[in-house]
Amino acid sequence: MSDRFAFSLDATDGPARTGRIETPRGTIRTPAFMPVGTAGTVKGMLPGSVAETGADVLLGNTYHLMLRPGAERIARLGGLHKFMNWPGPILTDSGGFQVMSLGALRKLDPDGVTFRSHIDGSRHRLTPERSMEIQRLLGSDIVMAFDECPALPADRARIASSMRLSMEWAARSREAFGDRPGHALFGIQQGGLEEDLRAESAEALRAIGFDGYAVGGLAVGEGQAAMFGCLDYAPEQLPADKPRYLMGVGKPDDIVGAVARGIDMMDCVLPTRSGRTGQAWTRRGQVNIRNARHADDPRPLDEHCTCPCCRGYSRAYLHHVSRAKEMIAGMLLTWHNLHYYQEIMAGMRAAIPAGRFAAWEAEFHRLRAEGDI
Ligand code: GUN
Ligand code: ZN
Repeated sequence: MSDRFAFSLDATDGPARTGRIETPRGTIRTPAFMPVGTAGTVKGMLPGSVAETGADVLLGNTYHLMLRPGAERIARLGGLHKFMNWPGPILTDSGGFQVMSLGALRKLDPDGVTFRSHIDGSRHRLTPERSMEIQRLLGSDIVMAFDECPALPADRARIASSMRLSMEWAARSREAFGDRPGHALFGIQQGGLEEDLRAESAEALRAIGFDGYAVGGLAVGEGQAAMFGCLDYAPEQLPADKPRYLMGVGKPDDIVGAVARGIDMMDCVLPTRSGRTGQAWTRRGQVNIRNARHADDPRPLDEHCTCPCCRGYSRAYLHHVSRAKEMIAGMLLTWHNLHYYQEIMAGMRAAIPAGRFAAWEAEFHRLRAEGDI
């Protein structure tokens, strides 16, 4: 363990990379998938169980925690790690992106964004300076710059002006963050699906200088082919010696395709959220456990999976508790989904230094093509 934040690359295989991010709260092995703990909990999981799935780092949200229970309150109670009983590294998103998805409830100006709470309608304001302050109060290890982005499709002029505003906010975020040894600040690249705007954004972020660089503004309705098209050039526009984080992605095949294109970190609500609605992800694709075909099936979700859900419970049981809306249904499926996601990450981390990423990827797709049987 290190008292500083540092990234080291251990191996590459084509654009795919593996390495480690050292933080005072522990090492993050990359490629890394970060489970989402929006409101100070990975829903349905104890923190120790999340760690058992293989997660090294969690994601928290400025937007949700500032509204409830409040950043100053969390700080008084000793910070987010202590509050939620997760001792490992935490990355926090900056709030801009979550506010933008409020639609009519928000108003953007060059200084920041004013919005109404989705919880009680109260008025709030976020600026780059306030976002940095909130993330400091939370005790976040990896702080994200304050940004905004349009939903796609959007016209080029809107994408360009939004990106340039985010780059001004990135500079203000850097200034407000200051020098905090052991803590990292990541910049966020924007620019939609426009290669030259992505390059301009990358250059602006590079000139400011960050500890890591995120690819933002993707998985906002453009579809996988368009996202991969962008990832064919976006990661290599960012510094090779710093971690690259693709925000809000994705399905298992999105994650594998992103790593194949040079991404080191990802987060998504999918494994946790879909677990709570009866959706499981396995090596053979997506399974809706509420489907009648599982009602009498004594087999586990995946006979090769070593998670507590698959070791202890049949598809028939999972079908029953999911249909009956029992809490354990969401708990077990979330556990399985997070375990499967972390197994994908571990598989890629092992394949890259062995120079067999392409073979690993081919096997990943072969099993999925066979389907759930
Ligand atoms: N989560 C998913 N995409 C984004 C993005 O572009 N910016 C931020 N801040 N968070 C995100
Ligand atoms: Zn399992």
